Formats: sequence, structure tokens, C-alpha cells
Amino acid sequence: MSTQKSVRKVTTHVLNEMKLRGEKIAMLTAYDFSIARILDEAEIDVILVGDSASNVMAGFDTTLPITLDNMIYHAASVVRGVKRALVVVDLPFGTYQGNSKEALASSIRIMKETGASAVKLEGGYQVVESIERILSAGIPVMGHLGLTPQAIHKFGTYVVRAQQEDEARRLMEDARLLEKTGCFGIVLEKIPARLAEEVTSNLKIPVIGIGAGPKTDGQVLVLHDMLGITTEFSPRFLRRYHNLHDEIKSAVQNYIKDVRTLKFPNEKEQY
Ligand code: KIV
Repeated sequence: MSTQKSVRKVTTHVLNEMKLRGEKIAMLTAYDFSIARILDEAEIDVILVGDSASNVMAGFDTTLPITLDNMIYHAASVVRGVKRALVVVDLPFGTYQGNSKEALASSIRIMKETGASAVKLEGGYQVVESIERILSAGIPVMGHLGLTPQAIHKFGTYVVRAQQEDEARRLMEDARLLEKTGCFGIVLEKIPARLAEEVTSNLKIPVIGIGAGPKTDGQVLVLHDMLGITTEFSPRFLRRYHNLHDEIKSAVQNYIKDVRTLKFPNEKEQY
């Protein structure tokens, strides 16, 4: 008899059930095998291989430069570390907006070459045709509305979105459209909490917030921000659960000191 405990994989269906039960969904980003394994052991529900990798892994100022090949490398590494969580991969800038065939081809590469379970893309009515085509191949799609970092050059700023009534109305229309088109969930980024609550209660699919208040069906943060590896980015919505920047720095400083003073390696640390 096997003593191994079987794990119940988180699927899009499980997320729907969680919404129905009023159970909150916890989502974080990851970009590599070792970290993904830790998040999965901790029983995170959803791991997003976000194009925020462009910022926190590659050091770019925006999410625009990251390529499909880069995202596939990160996503395949993450998937190898995950047994339970649902892995969602961002379609990077320029790989789905051009036309729906390109969107499908990009999504197929992600699914085939990484083993992930879903893709995420930014935008509302403008990307509906792409979403429809991706869904037609049986690939689950997550939407992303509000602050959409791939459109940063259009807006020129990362301020809170949909504060005015007309923009809020358009966001609600887009959210309804994404649900009607077949998205299994939506990320709402940096919008007023009241609007996020309204969207969440109007949709049957799970709504995950980042800077969107407490009334969404779940929350997502960029791992490097919540662990305090990044220090320069501190919007109001970000809660830092650790100060890994200082911890790593101090560990490295201790190592350097030990090497320089011949304290490392000691007698037990050699053959
Ligand atoms: O790329 C990312 O990390 C994201 C989250 C901010 C939701 O899209």
C-alpha cells in the first residue's frame, strides 16, 4: 500500500468552487523552480509566472521587453517545482495583441513547452477575439483589467485606474465581456476598492485583486515585493512580509567576512 498522500490539484474548477464557498484565493508570482516548490509546499492556490519577471528577474523598467522565449523558460522552471497549485503564465507584450492567430500560437507554445495550465493577458474588448481563439483550443484564459502595465506608455503613469465614473463603467463592461467570452478569472489591478467589490459581486468567475481592496475573491502580489527583496517599489497596497533584501545582504556580508578571515571553511567543512 502506498503511503504517499495524493494532492488535489488546483484547477480553474476548484477556483470556481472556492468563490461559491466564499473561500479566498491566494495567488503569488514565481519565476523559478526552487521558489515555486516552496510556494507549492506552503499550499498557495495559484502561481502566476508574471511578466513582472521583466522587472524583478531581468532588471528592466517595464514589462515590455520580456520575450515569449524568456517567459517559457521561467514557466517551465516553475512547473517542474509544482505539484498542487494552478500555474498561470502571462502572455508577454506583443505576442497576442497583433492578431488572434498570433495569440493562439503564443499560447500553444506556452502550454506545450511549459506544462502550465492557463495563460493570462491584459485588456478588455480589444483582446476579445484573441481570447476566443485561445479558448477554442481548450486553453483557459485569465483576464487582467485596471492598471495594465503593458500599456504603460499609453497612460504614462502607474496611478490608480478607473477613479472617474466613465472609466469605472468601461471597466465593469470589460469585466462582464471577459466573463461572457469565457475567461475563468480576472485580475483587477490598482482600482478603487468599491469598484472592485462591485465587479466581484457582479461576476460568477473569481476576481483576484492587487491594490483593489479586500472584497475581491482573492489577492495576488509580486513575490519579490512581498518578501522585501525589492525595496524601491512601495505602493500603498503592498504589505511586506519580510525584509529579505537586508537578510540576504547580511548573510552575504557574513560569508565574505568568514572567507577573508579564514573562518570558512572550518575543519568539519572539508574532506
Ligand atoms: O506580472 C505580474 O506579476 C502581474 C501581477 C501584478 C498580477 O501581472
